[in-house]
Amino acid sequence: MKVLIVGASGFVGSGVTRHLADTHEVLGLARSEESADRIASLGAEPVRGSVDDLDGLLGHAAAADATVFVPQLLQDLEHTTVSALLRSYAGTGKTFVFTSGTGVLGQRTFGEWSEDTFAEDDEFVTSKYLVQRRHTELVTRAASQNGVRAVVVRPPAIWGDGFHPFVGDILTSVDKTGSACYIGRGLNLYTHVSLDDLAELYRLVLDRGVAGALYHAAGGELNNRTLAECVARVHGVQTRSVSIEEAFEIWGKFTPLVTLGVSSRSRSPRSRRELGWSPQRTDVAQAILDGELNGKRRS
Ligand SMILES: NC(=O)c1ccc[n+]([C@@H]2O[C@H](COP(=O)([O-])OP(=O)(O)OC[C@H]3O[C@@H](n4cnc5c(N)ncnc54)[C@H](OP(=O)(O)O)[C@@H]3O)[C@@H](O)[C@H]2O)c1
Repeated sequence: MKVLIVGASGFVGSGVTRHLADTHEVLGLARSEESADRIASLGAEPVRGSVDDLDGLLGHAAAADATVFVPQLLQDLEHTTVSALLRSYAGTGKTFVFTSGTGVLGQRTFGEWSEDTFAEDDEFVTSKYLVQRRHTELVTRAASQNGVRAVVVRPPAIWGDGFHPFVGDILTSVDKTGSACYIGRGLNLYTHVSLDDLAELYRLVLDRGVAGALYHAAGGELNNRTLAECVARVHGVQTRSVSIEEAFEIWGKFTPLVTLGVSSRSRSPRSRRELGWSPQRTDVAQAILDGELNGKRRS
């Protein structure tokens, strides 16, 4: 299969590109020379373009059998671009994979545990900040009625290639306060997945994903306090609980409100049942303790 990857040079896109390049002919959309070099180093063929040049993008998509959409865009641009790509694939039977994220089902608990955990097709109240993204998920799934093999992948927090987003945030707190900080009791968590396991899910989706399906990718769970304890052990510092007000001082508003203060728990029964997906790297605590993960992205 000839696969176009939009966002191939990004953190998630790089992992997916590298993995798919083993089994497919992969074209990676590159909007700069630097991104083109990165994509070539992953074993894919860079094609020049940008989401901002829609006609060019549609041309690249038309030349492929499948498009995997994994860039980081503002939600409005994401929605209009995905909608245009889906229209261009109508009636072709081609594959389109939209990457969402479990932020859509997140709830702010500011350190408290939540027992709510969601399988792919469970009902939930959409985060008010991600209503447009949820709408893009629904538009993608509906395109399956229109002759597109359209699928949504909704990953949780992703770690790999030396990087873990929450470890990066905790290291910021070490730099600023001398302690590895978590909010409140630190019992909240984002379900996580390793980048390699997520990349394998995309391969399985291309291979046998069902039109109109949505797939989760739950690798494991570790609450924020335990994450902070792992970071503290590696860096020889103490942990500390902070109030939401202090969290804003350390991280600004975005991180406490959108990730560190949120519970986003997901399960993947459909991915396991329908695709045979089975994550291999689930022990993120050990990866941190082994010094494998820090706050810096390679891409
Ligand atoms: N990281 C996570 O833990 C996580 C978890 C769940 C869901 N997701 C979702 O996964 C997606 C990718 O996230 P990420 O962390 O990989 O982001 P990232 O590392 O920031 O990568 C962004 C990618 O988007 C490309 N891009 C940005 N603007 C573009 C444009 N106008 N035209 C074409 N390409 C453009 C970038 O290209 P350049 O290299 O040229 O800048 C890069 O390839 C997002 O939708 C995100 O919500 C991520």
